[in-house]
Amino acid sequence: MQNKMALTPVLTAHWDDPKSFEIETYKKHGGYVALKNSLKMTPDEVIGIVKDSGLRGRGGAGFPTGMKWSFVPQNDGKPHYLVVNADESEPGACKDIPLMLANPHSLVEGIAIASYAIRANHAFIYIRGEVPHVIRRVMNAVEQAYAEGLLGKNIQGSGFNLEVVVHAGAGAYICGEETALLDSLEGRRGQPRLKPPFPAVAGLYASPTVVNNAETLASVPSIILNGADWFKSMGTEKSPGFKLFAVSGHVNRPGIFEAALGTTMSELLDYAGGMRKGSKLKFWIPGGSSVPMLTPDHIDIPMTYEDLAAAGTMLGTGTPMMFDHTTSVVKAVTRWLEFYKHESCGKCTPCREGTYWITGVLEKFEHGKGKEEELEVINDVCGQIAGRSFCALGDAAATPFPGAMKYFADEFREATRTSADASFPPSATTIFDKAGV
Ligand SMILES: Cc1cc2nc3c(=O)[nH]c(=O)nc-3n(C[C@H](O)[C@H](O)[C@H](O)COP(=O)(O)O)c2cc1C
Ligand code: SF4
Repeated sequence: MQNKMALTPVLTAHWDDPKSFEIETYKKHGGYVALKNSLKMTPDEVIGIVKDSGLRGRGGAGFPTGMKWSFVPQNDGKPHYLVVNADESEPGACKDIPLMLANPHSLVEGIAIASYAIRANHAFIYIRGEVPHVIRRVMNAVEQAYAEGLLGKNIQGSGFNLEVVVHAGAGAYICGEETALLDSLEGRRGQPRLKPPFPAVAGLYASPTVVNNAETLASVPSIILNGADWFKSMGTEKSPGFKLFAVSGHVNRPGIFEAALGTTMSELLDYAGGMRKGSKLKFWIPGGSSVPMLTPDHIDIPMTYEDLAAAGTMLGTGTPMMFDHTTSVVKAVTRWLEFYKHESCGKCTPCREGTYWITGVLEKFEHGKGKEEELEVINDVCGQIAGRSFCALGDAAATPFPGAMKYFADEFREATRTSADASFPPSATTIFDKAGV
């Protein structure tokens, strides 16, 4: 029998408490002790613990968090800023929003600790605008923390001041790209900036800024409280710790499963109740639509940054989407390209024109009208976008098609004769029954 890895509830430990989002509940379970402990250390000591823990950013790229904090110049006389990236808009990614709904204080405490570490007296939480209930929940948590002297002036008598602003975006995926987010926060059109300079040197208002994902920051209090070795006791050497895995798609019990990095997809699939009745896994995406797809042959690969990279994909946001045999790959890839075309900010030509052009050709394939020679041309255009675009949205847009061709080229060839709906009737693939839509 397979030795299944256990879930590691830390961020999700008290989500079943009806008042999990209230400060009393959070404090009852040891909340804000890590902040008090941090304020007794020097900022560099706090950075040292986070560095030692090996925590890697949960926003997609997996950059080491402690190292990012240490890039902020010290004693430079400039204000420093912490910006929380809570824009979560990638197709398939749904972990920061539930986290902020169920346990907003882990984020607020993480923000206070990170701000202290990078010597910032202002922090901004940038939340996607389409989720007003989440924005209200986080605003309420921030208010509660102010009321208890955990934010604001002279926090817990330490002399450290921190003002926190909750900011609602206006619903653009590109505003999750950290420099576009900063432009948006400054009141400009949300378009990526040229890097370097990186935000750690010249970010918000041209001052040193750390941009971190919401889950990244929410993971920090437990590390301060339990130590770097505790965190490293989970996961692998290069991918330590726990992670929120949000499993969606044709599974019986879609949801968030908090587990050590290194847990396999087959174990997560078990937690999600397996594929729905009568259904067979066809392909899956480990971390949002921006990472290449995998097949059932890959479900025993440990979900780590290094193992998934070796398999030709990425952990990304750690939000696997599972698709069964009723799904048209052609249709799925077309929908993703339509998303990227719509969300392309238009600043650079390869992404603006390329996503428009690829989408148009894919739509022909979806309707059974593609030409076989166009498959090579789409591949070529993807090659012209990847690595030649101004930001990673272009690379992401160039990912789904070559990824799908690697395993499902025959299906694209079939789409020169038969429409996706004829080969894969939508009524079979939909995850809702008709009454439940
Ligand atoms: C188009 C695009 C959208 C992104 N959206 C998000 C997002 O919604 N949330 C997020 O944390 N990171 C997002 N990122 C990654 C951020 O640019 C950045 O790497 C991340 O916020 C850094 O935080 P971390 O180091 O804690 O992972 C996006 C990147 C791109 C290119
Ligand atoms: S790659 Fe796309 S989203 Fe990024 S700057 Fe260029 S046009 Fe804008």
